[in-house]
Amino acid sequence: MRRKWNNVWLLTGAVLVACLALAVGQNGPDSPDTIAVDVTHPGGDIAPTMFGIFFEDINFAADGGLYPELVKNRSFEFSEPLSAWKQIDILGNPQGELDVRTDGALNENNPHYLRMHVYEPGGGFGVVNPGFRGMGVESGAEYVFSAYVRSPGNGPRTVHAKLLDESGKTIGSADLRGFGRNWKKYEATLRPTATTLHGRLNVYVDEKGDVDLDMISLYPKDTWKGRPNGLRKDLVQLLADMKPGFLRFPGGCIVEGRRLAVRYQWKKTVGDVSERRTITNRWNDEFADTRPTPDYFQSFGLGFYEYFQLAEDIGASPLPILNCGMACQFNSSETAPLNTTDQYIQDALDLIEFANGPADTVWGGLRTRMGHPAPFHLKMIGVGNEQWGPQYLDRFKLFSAALKSKHPEIALVGSAGPSPSGKEFEYLWSNLRKLKTDFIDEHYYAAPSWFLENSGRYDRYDRSGPKVFGGEFAAQTSGVAKTDNRNNWDGALAEAAFMTGLERNADVVRMASYAPLFAHVDAWQWTPDLIWFDNLKSYGTTNYYVQKLFANQVGTRIVPAVIDGAAHNAVKGIYASGMLDERSREVVVMVVNSNASARPVRITLKGVGAASEAKLVTIANDDLRAENSFAQPRHVAPIESAARVENGSLAVTMPAQAVSAFRVRY
Ligand code: AHR
Repeated sequence: MRRKWNNVWLLTGAVLVACLALAVGQNGPDSPDTIAVDVTHPGGDIAPTMFGIFFEDINFAADGGLYPELVKNRSFEFSEPLSAWKQIDILGNPQGELDVRTDGALNENNPHYLRMHVYEPGGGFGVVNPGFRGMGVESGAEYVFSAYVRSPGNGPRTVHAKLLDESGKTIGSADLRGFGRNWKKYEATLRPTATTLHGRLNVYVDEKGDVDLDMISLYPKDTWKGRPNGLRKDLVQLLADMKPGFLRFPGGCIVEGRRLAVRYQWKKTVGDVSERRTITNRWNDEFADTRPTPDYFQSFGLGFYEYFQLAEDIGASPLPILNCGMACQFNSSETAPLNTTDQYIQDALDLIEFANGPADTVWGGLRTRMGHPAPFHLKMIGVGNEQWGPQYLDRFKLFSAALKSKHPEIALVGSAGPSPSGKEFEYLWSNLRKLKTDFIDEHYYAAPSWFLENSGRYDRYDRSGPKVFGGEFAAQTSGVAKTDNRNNWDGALAEAAFMTGLERNADVVRMASYAPLFAHVDAWQWTPDLIWFDNLKSYGTTNYYVQKLFANQVGTRIVPAVIDGAAHNAVKGIYASGMLDERSREVVVMVVNSNASARPVRITLKGVGAASEAKLVTIANDDLRAENSFAQPRHVAPIESAARVENGSLAVTMPAQAVSAFRVRY
């Protein structure tokens, strides 16, 4: 019902090329496939947001990943307050007790702290922290060791930190000194003398008495753009290299929470980090049977301010997704009564003020005090993640009425549910269309063959209604939520073929993002993922290089790209899209050859004048099982070359199983 054939330009081009094909009698099995690109008939514009990033705190993406705090459970707020901490075994028979207390806490969001009662310090009485699957530190780099400390009586005057490598050798130390009776933050610099991937931190005292500790932290100074409480540099670099159009955050199912009590609430993630209340991460026990992660919590050190800052830093439009009063429908399905939706709506209104409001407003004032007086230029908000059913529509209606009346400038994203087709999907689409929703968020987690078969999915979408946000997609080489999915070339090539279909229909598909984004090699719950990392290094998968290629090459306007005269994408395993990049006056043609053999391809460029050279970027591999890894991070990665353009035509051989971007000046 929502599909309406209106690619008039595509038909026109198709007829022209079909005639040409008949005239020259081509299209034999070995003759080149012709991709007729017509620069003289530009179609709709391509949104600057077209290809972006989906961030969710899954697979240790935030704590233990992008948020580079090295101490796990720094605030003693995990559900077992001492989890991750153990009494150190030091020579000299130290005697004392570890006491987790709540009296006189640092603040109400951080109710627990550690009191060390030291009776006999021996060689040192204290605790050891293993970090997030170890602490990764670089030799010679600087780290800030800090803690809130209080000495209630005649307690120790010095707190020592010692960083140990895997073998237990000390590779760095720092001391905090001179404590009073009230909480105060103390800091010292720790400079490791060696690199280690799996270090650990001893925190101890060598004097008798009591000392209170909270927010014990070891944090790199060398963060992205050197920001305090900043993000891990190598990971942000990979994101920045994508030149993403938008950043969707904070998820994903994490927005919903398994229950409403542990839903994502942005207001609890801003302000001083010591005042952000830690909660259990919804992925902690989601896969309790296959990938249990009992030590997975959210400290919210990476909170909404940091997400907005990240978006700005990498030139992406921020796209927060907010809870709409519904917990995950795969879990508890807990739904807040309709007459309590106001508080959720107020959170959305306040978020707009936090992002865009002036300094003399409550929330704009907080943003200013946090260090960003200028607005973050928020232009869109998602209402709910993967919601479905009438209960979702009831809530969406209330959100839409309130937000559109107060902030008509903010575009709203509605959910099409977890599946890209079916009764629920159709129901949501038809109702969200009636509500004049700006964007509808479609998710496709499916086999590589689905992506190949669906490259024409949007050719017949109705252009008059809401625009599409392909908010989460990834080819599942084994099956959805299976632990043996691979980030191999099979999946990535299929995604590339599908993405030519998104580009051909960029007038209706305005945004798309691969999901999930990050995975820690020793702490993941979900595969496949775009970027893998350990405590020191990271690499982009085959899928990453496809996403990066499309995002880097995206143009500003669609032009017809007709394969062998057919009025659809996917002809004999060839997929293509055509774009103008009006900024550089180049025509961009993306071509995917999904065949297991190389194929001659002729790209005709109607309207291209005297250009004589095309710039090419190609990713290819003749083994669909090929993957990148720490050892071979660019095993499947783009290679640049050039090709000659003769009389507005480009004859090339597309390698087997390849995606290429061609750029020619017009
Ligand atoms: O990307 C992983 C999960 O898949 C997301 O949290 C959810 O939205 C989808 O079901």
